[in-house]
Amino acid sequence: MAGPTEYKPTIVGFLCNWCCYGGADLCGVSRYQYPPYLRVIRLMCSGRVDLAFIFRAFASAADGVFIGGCHLNDCHYNPEGNYDALGNTLMAKRILKHLGVNPERLRLEWVSAGEGIRFAEVMNDFSNKVKSLGRFGSSEGIDRAELKSRLEAATQLVPYVKLVERERLRVPVRTEEGYQKFFGSEEFNDLFNELILDKLAMSRIMSFLRLKPVSAGELSEGLGLNPCEVAKHLDDLAGEGLISFDENRICVATR
Ligand code: FES
Repeated sequence: MAGPTEYKPTIVGFLCNWCCYGGADLCGVSRYQYPPYLRVIRLMCSGRVDLAFIFRAFASAADGVFIGGCHLNDCHYNPEGNYDALGNTLMAKRILKHLGVNPERLRLEWVSAGEGIRFAEVMNDFSNKVKSLGRFGSSEGIDRAELKSRLEAATQLVPYVKLVERERLRVPVRTEEGYQKFFGSEEFNDLFNELILDKLAMSRIMSFLRLKPVSAGELSEGLGLNPCEVAKHLDDLAGEGLISFDENRICVATR
């Protein structure tokens, strides 16, 4: 009788053409081994990895997402490209955590074209980590369909998040430590809570209402949000003309 099949995670890897992709190539030519879980998407720069790419990868089939870029200050287009990747990764981790996704499912590493062995080491380590976390949603204790709906709501919000990043979330020091410090700071936490959390909740409400009209109570229960919070967001959404109420106070998405 056949035993249970071994769990093989899917890892989507966004690799910069100039460094990490070269490292992966050298790794293959040199016959260094790592588990066959990686699905490579080749990009010209790690800075091209949009937040939406990360959320869509998880919403589609990924158990883990890997971003590989040139070492800091070695970006081939401008010195900022991989700093953009760093900022996006730290922001994505914060949003994923808020959505209930383990942020360790997302990893960013710098690998040069000459570091084939490092690419194998990084992929071995990340593959083992993702495998130990189990299928997407299992270590989170959240149904995959529910996570998908949360990720779709986050994806809708990406243009707004980019605006906030550009206007309000300026990292004062261009070093890896500076980024880590800023994204772990109280200042960032306050801005995130003030500027992004409410919008994320509103985006989740809109995603829910696009499926079917429901009452405020059903929304609160379905999204796991506080009823007062839901009432406030519904008022705001109605004020923006994005929802309306029928005669039974059932909420209907108008866009
Ligand atoms: Fe490789 Fe920008 S060109 S990170």
